[in-house]
Amino acid sequence: MAHWSENGTRLHIQYRTLHRTSQLPEMSSAVSDVCIIILPASQRHGHRLEGIHDLISVVPTNLGDDATLVVIGEVVDLVSVHASVHTSMRYQHWISLKRQSVRESDRQDSLAEHHYGALIYTKYDSPLRHTKTRIPYTYCPYCDKTTKDYGGKKHTYHRYGTLLSDVWRDIPSNLDGDLTEIIDRFADLFGIESYSSLDVLDCRQFDWGRRPVSPSWPPADRQALTSTSGNIDPDQLIRGDCLEKLRSLPDDSVDFAFADPPYNLGKHYTGYGDDMAVAQYFSWCDRWIAELARVLRPGRTCAVLNIPLWAIRHFSYMETILTFQNWIAWDALAFPVRLIMPAHYAILCFAKGRPRALPGLVGDCGEEDEHPLTNASGVLEPLAEGFCLRAGCISARKRAQIGDRGVLADLWWDIHRLKHNTRRVDHPCQLPPHLMYRLISLFTRPEEVVLDCFNGAGTTTLAAAQLHRTYVGIELSEEYHAIATARHAELRTGMDPFRKATRALTAKNSPVPRMPKQKYMVSKKTLQLEVKRIAALLGRLPNREEVIQHSQFPIAYYDQYFAGWGEVCAAARTTGMSETRIISEAQPGSSQPPFFDLRDLASQQE
Ligand SMILES: C[S@@+](CC[C@H](N)C(=O)[O-])C[C@H]1O[C@@H](n2cnc3c(N)ncnc32)[C@H](O)[C@@H]1O
Repeated sequence: MAHWSENGTRLHIQYRTLHRTSQLPEMSSAVSDVCIIILPASQRHGHRLEGIHDLISVVPTNLGDDATLVVIGEVVDLVSVHASVHTSMRYQHWISLKRQSVRESDRQDSLAEHHYGALIYTKYDSPLRHTKTRIPYTYCPYCDKTTKDYGGKKHTYHRYGTLLSDVWRDIPSNLDGDLTEIIDRFADLFGIESYSSLDVLDCRQFDWGRRPVSPSWPPADRQALTSTSGNIDPDQLIRGDCLEKLRSLPDDSVDFAFADPPYNLGKHYTGYGDDMAVAQYFSWCDRWIAELARVLRPGRTCAVLNIPLWAIRHFSYMETILTFQNWIAWDALAFPVRLIMPAHYAILCFAKGRPRALPGLVGDCGEEDEHPLTNASGVLEPLAEGFCLRAGCISARKRAQIGDRGVLADLWWDIHRLKHNTRRVDHPCQLPPHLMYRLISLFTRPEEVVLDCFNGAGTTTLAAAQLHRTYVGIELSEEYHAIATARHAELRTGMDPFRKATRALTAKNSPVPRMPKQKYMVSKKTLQLEVKRIAALLGRLPNREEVIQHSQFPIAYYDQYFAGWGEVCAAARTTGMSETRIISEAQPGSSQPPFFDLRDLASQQE
């Protein structure tokens, strides 16, 4: 077994193969716990199944009141599933599933496909109920350390492995192949007390047709989008509202339009409220997407980054005016805590009319050597699965000429979200420059025009300038616009705008208040290990009074350093892990927990 579920009971799995849509209502009516529907695989990129609506719209009404529904299928089909699913179902997660074999595109106008997915819905309205399920850590074959760098937090992680995120790369499979490992994982993930059975309704034998997602090119109504063409003033950082400013740009003037919009999740921006009603948010999104489509040159790509749930909605609009190229799943490598952690973003890539061959795939994106940073990061040659991202190990592998590069497809897992404050400026959600190096190199040639209509602290325009592209950035906030302008000025003097630096930051991408800077000669880790010592003494997690009584440090330290009691007890809840490969005593799949764990005592206390 490639995972271990704590305190769970494996559900009883029943497989049924369906041959016709009409069988579904009857088969799903007996399902009260967990239902997994497997849709047919596609042999052709960007071709969507017909008939999904008839299938999906009837299912939920037949399920039990407390049921969980999982639909496994191709990315384009999951978009249709979401459009058809009954409004009584609550969306919970989009799990990105790694393919075993990459599906190449015929014409080099899109990336090869490396993932399909599973949509999870529930009949109940609360957050997804599931067992705490862990997968073993993976170790770099060169340095023998974990593939993720757990830094100074090793004492708060479990020895067996990491909790699940919403990207499952560790059990690659093909949608038309054997899905036992995926099904088994769901059976353990949902092995909670209130469930006992899992029904798999396998629809892969369905004889449904497929048609292209986007209408064939060039449809008459899209000619209007390419009526006039224009040239754009080079290298502009524009302050103002994107809709208003986009309208002032000429038609057909941009070679790559990128958007990393506010996600409407209540983030703390300066000068902008990130909390519109959902319908209003999408009506606004549709308007700037239409503008991006207008200013794009024919054959060029517009890429929109968002969380998967919002990306589904963007997809439905973009496919009406543009041509589908790729749904890139960017696993931003978050560290999961407690529940399944949303760790990936979708980057939707659509072209205006027929896409051109991608410059990055046909060797037309300029010399990588021209920019030392991009060369070091393997912009278009991602790390092969299994190797770690530690800078020291990357350099050592390079010196030793280890072949650690893989093929660029549409599942990106080797670009970390910005982890360290030393790499950030004062903006709550900057993208890592390597993401932009990759996108810009993939979709443009040198000198071409890159547009970002939510330019924030300038990541896109700076990366474009470094790669010798022309840039246009639009940003509403005066403060962020000023940050981007200052960074471009630095770049012109030869400084690296993405360098490590000590900065006093106030923006934070989290509702949790920023804690005061450490003032005592004791680290957070020392305090957490002290709580672990007290927990071992008591045989359970201590409360505040007990820490006051037993700790050698004043309670004020704990109060000032931690956002909550959960964080104080983080190390006491788990065993701690080693970053270097160890021979595991655990037998994955055994019903016994692999290590003594104080959490068991803690749950008795609760
Ligand atoms: C997710 S952030 C983009 C961050 C950017 N990718 C970076 O790396 O710095 C979204 C940005 O859109 C800006 N914004 C919000 N509404 C806008 C509007 N109507 N027009 C232009 N920019 C806007 C916000 O101020 C914020 O900086």
